[in-house]
Amino acid sequence: MITINFDPKVDEVKTAEILKAIAHDKMGGWLTLPKRFDMGEFVRIKEAAKKIQEESEYLVCIGIGGSYLGHRAIIEALHPHSETKIIYAGNSLSRRELDRALKKVGDHDFSVNVISKSGTTLEPAIAFGEFKKKLIEKYGEEEAAGRIYATTDRKQGALHDEAVAAGYTMFVVPDNIGGRYSVLSAVGILPMAVAGVNVDKLLEGAAEAVEKVVEPATKYAWMRYSLAKKNYDTEVFASFEPATMYFNEWLKQLFGESEGKNKQGVLPVSVVYSTDLHSLGQFIQDGRRNLWETIIDYPTDEINAKVVKAVQVAHIGGGIPVLNIGVSSYDEMGFGELIYFFELSCAVSAKLFGVNPFDQPGVEAYKNELKKLL
Ligand code: PA5
Repeated sequence: MITINFDPKVDEVKTAEILKAIAHDKMGGWLTLPKRFDMGEFVRIKEAAKKIQEESEYLVCIGIGGSYLGHRAIIEALHPHSETKIIYAGNSLSRRELDRALKKVGDHDFSVNVISKSGTTLEPAIAFGEFKKKLIEKYGEEEAAGRIYATTDRKQGALHDEAVAAGYTMFVVPDNIGGRYSVLSAVGILPMAVAGVNVDKLLEGAAEAVEKVVEPATKYAWMRYSLAKKNYDTEVFASFEPATMYFNEWLKQLFGESEGKNKQGVLPVSVVYSTDLHSLGQFIQDGRRNLWETIIDYPTDEINAKVVKAVQVAHIGGGIPVLNIGVSSYDEMGFGELIYFFELSCAVSAKLFGVNPFDQPGVEAYKNELKKLL
């Protein structure tokens, strides 16, 4: 069970209204997903994962933003065992990075999971083109198609159309779930299963959270909101386990894209201690007082636990609010619960700021400029 060390003033009526609005939102499908995951689809995903493990040394996961950060966060945090290693591509437009990924796969056997809800995002489209070419050169058209797994929209988009025409194995990003809320759908479940994550336990942890975390999650949302109203405009997510760096990245995207609109929201930044005590630590202790710290307190070893305490005392002494979110267990159950806790907190928090948690109109601006240049 997630524990929190704060108790903000909560407007229960408003909270109930917000929870109702999220449940009725056409993009609120993630709210009950862990409890009503389509079991037929779940079995198909696990079968595909087994096939990939049997025939590939590498699975290249192609996607950006919500189409990759969630599963990378869990795979890196849990570091499970699997003979098939995961490689990420299509999350930047750097030719250097793409060449590096192609070189890493080299002559090894590999499969590709291309993940894009819209099916039109440039970064994954370019990487997919390159890896598809490599697959065809190595295995020929037919076997290459059998090694491509497309996770995309149910009925539209360039990737959908290509997957249908070429006969790729397809998995669906549900219509009512947006990218950054999709880690517990096929988007995350397939790569995590290939990487050796116990996806049954992950979903079980999330399913149990559906009722259990409503209170702490809504309190956390209200706490954020009340701090923001007192001119704290930056939230520092702090963890003490280096392997959770990508979980922090997932959090930044979740909150940043959900909340940062109409000149509202809190700027999410992240640190991993004790490494960053020797970089951003100085600023957090003693710099401009516009930030608060949210410690994600994973169960850890004795010495590391002492640092958590020391940092908390020192930073409170430095005059910044420190929130502590105690994670119940460092395993699939614990992360399932944690994912759901943050998704719910984030949606409620965005609603408190009066913005839509499920769109990202600002992301279009750079895309339009890039289109002009290309
Ligand atoms: O959260 C979101 O909706 C975004 O971060 C998307 O996941 C990201 O832009 C990638 O979009 P797509 O899956 O359509 O390629």
